[in-house]
Parts: sequence; structure tokens; C-alpha cells
Amino acid sequence: MKGRHESTKQHGSAGRRLLLWLLLTPLLVLVVLKTDFLPQAAHSREAGFTRFKDEMVHKVSSLGLDSARWQQQSLDTEKPESAKGYNQQNEILATNVAKDASLINSDVGAPKISTFTCNFSHRHSDNCRMEGDLRIHGRSASVYVVSSSTFNPKNSTIPIKPYTRKWEPETMARIREVNIRTSPPAPYSVVIPPRCTVRHDVPAVIFSTGGCGKNFFHAMSDLIVPLYTTAHEYNGHVQLLITDYEPEWVAKFRPILDALSMYPVIDFDSDTAVRCFPAAHVGLESHRILGIDPALSRNGYTMMGFRDFLRSVFSLHRQWRTPISRSSGQKPRLVFVLRHHSRAVTNEADAIAALADVGFEVVAAGPEDVSDMAKIAAVVNSCDVMVGVHGAGLTNMVFLPHNGTIVQIIPWGNLKYPCRYDFGDPVPDMGLHYEEYEVTAEETTLKDKYPRDHPVFADPISIERSGKLWEVFLEGQNVTLDIDRFRGAMQHVYQSVTTE
Ligand SMILES: *[C@@H]1O[C@H](CO)[C@@H](O)[C@H](O)[C@H]1NC(C)=O
Ligand SMILES: *[C@@H]1O[C@H](CO)[C@@H](O)[C@H](O)[C@H]1NC(C)=O
Ligand SMILES: *[C@@H]1O[C@H](CO)[C@@H](O)[C@H](O)[C@H]1NC(C)=O
Ligand SMILES: *[C@@H]1O[C@H](CO)[C@@H](O)[C@H](O)[C@H]1NC(C)=O
Repeated sequence: MKGRHESTKQHGSAGRRLLLWLLLTPLLVLVVLKTDFLPQAAHSREAGFTRFKDEMVHKVSSLGLDSARWQQQSLDTEKPESAKGYNQQNEILATNVAKDASLINSDVGAPKISTFTCNFSHRHSDNCRMEGDLRIHGRSASVYVVSSSTFNPKNSTIPIKPYTRKWEPETMARIREVNIRTSPPAPYSVVIPPRCTVRHDVPAVIFSTGGCGKNFFHAMSDLIVPLYTTAHEYNGHVQLLITDYEPEWVAKFRPILDALSMYPVIDFDSDTAVRCFPAAHVGLESHRILGIDPALSRNGYTMMGFRDFLRSVFSLHRQWRTPISRSSGQKPRLVFVLRHHSRAVTNEADAIAALADVGFEVVAAGPEDVSDMAKIAAVVNSCDVMVGVHGAGLTNMVFLPHNGTIVQIIPWGNLKYPCRYDFGDPVPDMGLHYEEYEVTAEETTLKDKYPRDHPVFADPISIERSGKLWEVFLEGQNVTLDIDRFRGAMQHVYQSVTTE
């Protein structure tokens, strides 16, 4: 918050200085542009776009309001959609300040007043909503709000990082900043917005895929749930624009993206068009980890509704789990999500045998099965119970039928609360039941590595304090279940999902 305040202040005083300067200088201003001012990144995200991006942000801010004019000029002469043309345009451009006001509305019939609100008070994400005359230029990460009814020179440019883990500076450092540039209603504007090269008649939603890597939990919690919360209300009539575009992420979540939007997603950073929209959201609404707060959602969305949406996307058959009668000879189905690198169950064959012994029909899902989302969705939906050691694979609980049960196996290391935070607390809102199985010091492979009087056992919190929690407890252990203890716990679960 402090950072934002300081930066808006800077913009404000720079704006005032410029305004003064504009009033005192002759009307004709010659802006000399060299082609090497233009970003060289063109369409090559692979070739280290981040570097160029930073350079460009720097140049744009050091150029102040002139940069907006520069963008206007360069964009006007640009052939839509042509990245090549972008680098080959005129080297010298002149602009007449006196004509600014008339230029602003040169490509709209009657001046349209835009409205614009932002919410910076949420812990997860900053987000802005706007309506009216909006012009979006992905390559320069600019969103122009033309003739904003709430224009204020103090915050005429608002930077937003459209990702939902605001509290994590390391993650946010990887997210491209989008600048929302407002201009006052004519005739006061000195900022010339660029001309539209493409017009859309649906709202835009801008977000980043740069913060979740390949992690399925983060993809769901940080992006898919917030995207549903932000964009589902448009019934597909919405254009998604992705900054820090991750092709693999887009490919993986294609079925969900197609269900949310009937238009192909736009790779924002390499987009040279100036797209005009009647409404836009910059940033996604995110209320809680893997969850939706219906009270904060404009449409009263719920996680049950989100799961029904997923069920329709993947054509899953079971909405509700139906109680199974023990005397009927039918068995409840249980999916055991297996990990094979860290937090693996070393005696998984014995564990599976014990589960079968208790009365479950067991489906083992290894990492290969889990990586195919449509396939694992169908498997999980066919089950009544999901079991697994803490890890991203448990996120597949979103595909369980309502009233299903999830059992989280919590590894050694005082991890109960952090594990609950990710996969326990979100469960009730999904219409599921939560159980946990916390492994004892006897059930971790750490006992082969450390003596029992080592802080790993005697004082696990000290390991966390020394910053080694990930290395020691999450990457550094496997689990050897005490089969009798595990069987006892799972018998209890079996009883809860069956009737006489
Ligand atoms: C800009 O500042 C004004 C005055 O403080 C405020 O009313 C307005 O909401 C701010 N705009 C945004 C988008 O934060
Ligand atoms: C902004 O977000 C916070 C937290 O989600 C919420 O309590 C508040 O009502 C929101 N403010 C507006 C004006 O929507
Ligand atoms: C856990 O088990 C896997 C094999 O299943 C092995 O590759 C890995 O090294 C083990 N990790 C630890 C910390 O024992
Ligand atoms: C949900 O599960 C509980 C416990 O098994 C059961 O009592 C209840 O009837 C189930 N609800 C529905 C709607 O199936």
C-alpha cells in the first residue's frame, strides 16, 4: 500500500509539472523518436521478453505524458496485427498539442464517459473494473480509460499486477504490470488515447498466468476459481487476455477456458492491436484459497456452483454421491492419489490391500494419470472417497461428487495447520467431507535419516524457523504407513459412506 501511494504521488507531481510545461511552451512540439526506443522483443517471448519489458516500462515512465502521445502516434501509423510494421514506422513524428482535444474523440461518434473503480483492499488481489470507452494495447501493457468520470491527476496511471497472490512478493515479482491510464473528459485532456484497430462488443478480462508454473493446486486456486468468479457471469460473451502467457497452461486448461469464453484467448504481451472494449476487468477476484466467498461475489457464486460448472465442462456424470448399502454387496469407490518423488507412500501396495480389505474398491492414480485432467476428472468423479498425502494432486477433489469425502495424509513436521489451510479449510464449502490422518514419528522415513533427539523430531518448529521446512519436511520425507493404524482410520471413513 505504501509503495503504491508513493508511486502515485510521483505520477501526480510529474503530471502537474508537465501540465505547467505544456501551458508555457509553444504549441508545436516536435517529438523525435528513434526506432531503438521501440521494444525489440517483437513476438519472441521465448527470447527473454521480461528483460525488454522492464526496459520498456522504464522508458515509458521516464517519458511521462509524452510517452502516451508517442504511443498514440506509433499506434496510429501501425498496421493492425503486424509486429513487423511496428518496428519500421516513421522515425520522426510531430504532434500538435492544440489538436489534442479534437483527436481524443476522433474515432467515436459522441464522447462517452467512462466509469472506473478499483479495489486494492483485498489480501489476494488488486482488481479494477471499468466501463465506457476502453482501449487496450497489450504490447505496452496499457489500458486507456477514456474520459473517466472520476479522473484525478494524482492517480491518472494505476499499475496493477493481475495475479492473486498479492501477499507473496516472490510470486508477484514474476508478474507483468499492467498500467491503467485514465484521461479526463474533453476538453481538458492532454493525453491522446490510441485509436482502435479492433473493436469488441464484449467485456475484456486481463490476467497473468506467470505465477503458478505447472502446479495444479496453484492453477486452480490462483487462477481457475478466480477466473470463474470474475468471468462466468458473461456466459461466454467475454474476451480473455493473458499476460505472461504460458502456452502449456493455456493448453491444459483449454476445456475450462472454452467454457468461460467463446473467443480464443489473446496473448496480451505480443498483441500489437489496439482493442476497444465496452467494459473490462484488470485482475481477477479472489477471496480465499481454493474458494469463493458468496458474500463477496457479485453474483453470489459458490464453490458448489463452481464444481457443478466443472462437472459440465468435463461431462462428469455424478453430481451427488449416493449412500451405499453394505448388505447390497456394492462397494464404495476410493481413489488413492499416489506421489512418487517426495511424500511417497513407501508401502503403497500394503496400504491399497488394507483399503480393499476394509471394503473399498480402490483405484490407484499415479502422477501420469493425474497429469491428464479430463481423465483424472472422470476417475475422481466416479469415486466416493479420495485419499492421498498432502500435495497438489489432492486438488482433484474438485471433481468428487457432492457429499464425497477427502482424506488428507499429513506428513511429519508439525504440518497440520498449513496442510489444512490448503486442503482442509476449503472442503466444507465444496460440499465435501474432510478427514485427516497425521503420520507419527514412526511413520516417516525421516527416522532413517535423523536420530530421535534431533530437532526434526524434538522441535520441528525450529526447522520451519530456519527456513528448511520445504527441504526437510516436504521434499525430504516419504511416508511408511502403520498399516493397522491406517486401516482403523479408513474403517471409520468406510462406515461414514455406507449404510446397513
Ligand atoms: C483516484 O483518486 C480519487 C481521489 O482520491 C478517488 O476518488 C478515486 O477512486 C481514485 N481512483 C482509483 C481508480 O483508485
Ligand atoms: C473491496 O474488497 C474488500 C475485500 O474483499 C471488500 O470487503 C470490500 O467491500 C470491497 N470494496 C468495494 C467497494 O467493493
Ligand atoms: C521417496 O521415494 C522415492 C521413490 O518412491 C525416492 O525416489 C525418493 O528419493 C524418496 N525420498 C526420500 C526423501 O526418501
Ligand atoms: C451425505 O452424506 C451423509 C453421510 O454419509 C448422509 O447422511 C447424507 O444423507 C448424504 N446427503 C445426500 C444428499 O446424499
